[in-house]
Amino acid sequence: MFLLLVSFSISFGAYFLREKLKQLNLAASQLQQSSHADGFLEAVNLDIHQWTWVPTFLKVYFIGVVETIYITLCQRGLFKSSSTRSMNESHVDTLALGSKNDGSIAVITGGDSGIGLEICRGLLDAGFHVIIGTHSVKSCEAVIDSLQKATSSDKISSIQLDLTNYQSVRDFVDQIQLKVPKKNIQLLINNAGIMNTDYKITDDGFESQCQTNFLSPMLLTRLLLPYISPKSGRVLFASSSTLYTVKDLDLSVPLKKYGLNGLDHYAYSKSCIAQLVPRLAKTTPVKIYGKTTRYVTYHPGTVRTKLFSTTTVFNLPLVSRIFHYIMLSPKEGCRTPLFLCLSKDVGDSGTYWANENQQTLPSVSVNGIVNNNEALWIDTMQKINLKK
Ligand SMILES: NC(=O)c1ccc[n+]([C@@H]2O[C@H](COP(=O)([O-])OP(=O)(O)OC[C@H]3O[C@@H](n4cnc5c(N)ncnc54)[C@H](OP(=O)(O)O)[C@@H]3O)[C@@H](O)[C@H]2O)c1
Repeated sequence: MFLLLVSFSISFGAYFLREKLKQLNLAASQLQQSSHADGFLEAVNLDIHQWTWVPTFLKVYFIGVVETIYITLCQRGLFKSSSTRSMNESHVDTLALGSKNDGSIAVITGGDSGIGLEICRGLLDAGFHVIIGTHSVKSCEAVIDSLQKATSSDKISSIQLDLTNYQSVRDFVDQIQLKVPKKNIQLLINNAGIMNTDYKITDDGFESQCQTNFLSPMLLTRLLLPYISPKSGRVLFASSSTLYTVKDLDLSVPLKKYGLNGLDHYAYSKSCIAQLVPRLAKTTPVKIYGKTTRYVTYHPGTVRTKLFSTTTVFNLPLVSRIFHYIMLSPKEGCRTPLFLCLSKDVGDSGTYWANENQQTLPSVSVNGIVNNNEALWIDTMQKINLKK
């Protein structure tokens, strides 16, 4: 069944990409140039956003397939004599080592695995003092040890945090307050997330992906605001290109059971965070580099991490090996978030990014009503027990 779905998606994906190239009047080989590639993937995603007749979880698979075909063609040697993996990874080193931050403080959730771990490595190379919010301080010790050895920096520590529990988020903030003077945090990176996990309702009463991926990150950000530098603070949120699969946000989803699997809830949570950030940016502007600022969401790319361990198709024996080769490495995946952490100019606040480029955030309706994002904001504030 899964293999059938994968074969169908790959064939349809290849056909769809060919038609899109024709429509945009592009030769496939032109996709090697990032200027063409970014616009191309964005155009494809915006098309998929219009497919209201396709179930969300199928669109999630399809977006993954399209990105993977794109990586195979353009970044894994099909149009080039070699893969661009090492180029992408050395670009990350250049970004990190080219930035001097002298002990500025960065707080990151889930910095002990996958993309988050690579962001930590980059931030340590860039001179930041990094505080990781981790499920387990004990198992994070080994990660901290290896990062210290790799970067020759000891400016890294961890604090316990469970995003499926609001009290744990509040305890985390209390611990930060003991370590960091007010207004001293330069970066807050809401990186931690889960995808397509078994159905679970948290102690706070919400489906666990929704609480982990958008409710708790929003609570954490609001509680930490007094500690974020008003002059140069920047707050990042990990979203995902799966946000393009959602056209209407039904506010009761965090209280609803799964359909066929948990991918609908995942896409919903990533769409919510991306739609909330422009509103957050309006409410709480922070000045940076002379402009008001900087709350951003991003898609890191399709990156081989344990995020996919609960999605069967990625764990089929042969398929898993192929994906391992094709998908981006965690270091490649930290390119966009690290760029957003370290670059001087990341454009307007409240924007959504992928491949180091600002992307169009598609508009959604909320509970069936267009231009109703304020309802999402009010509902979220209620769900995290904060006043507007
Ligand atoms: N990989 C991709 O292709 C991709 C694509 C789009 C978006 N993203 C987003 O990028 C972010 C990083 O993902 P990744 O691929 O690096 O996945 P990952 O390797 O699984 O890392 C996720 C991190 O989040 C932590 N985490 C999960 N639940 C948590 C909780 N309740 N409290 C505290 N920490 C928790 C995990 O801790 P434990 O290890 O202790 O569970 C882990 O450190 C996620 O938000 C993901 O949705 C990834």
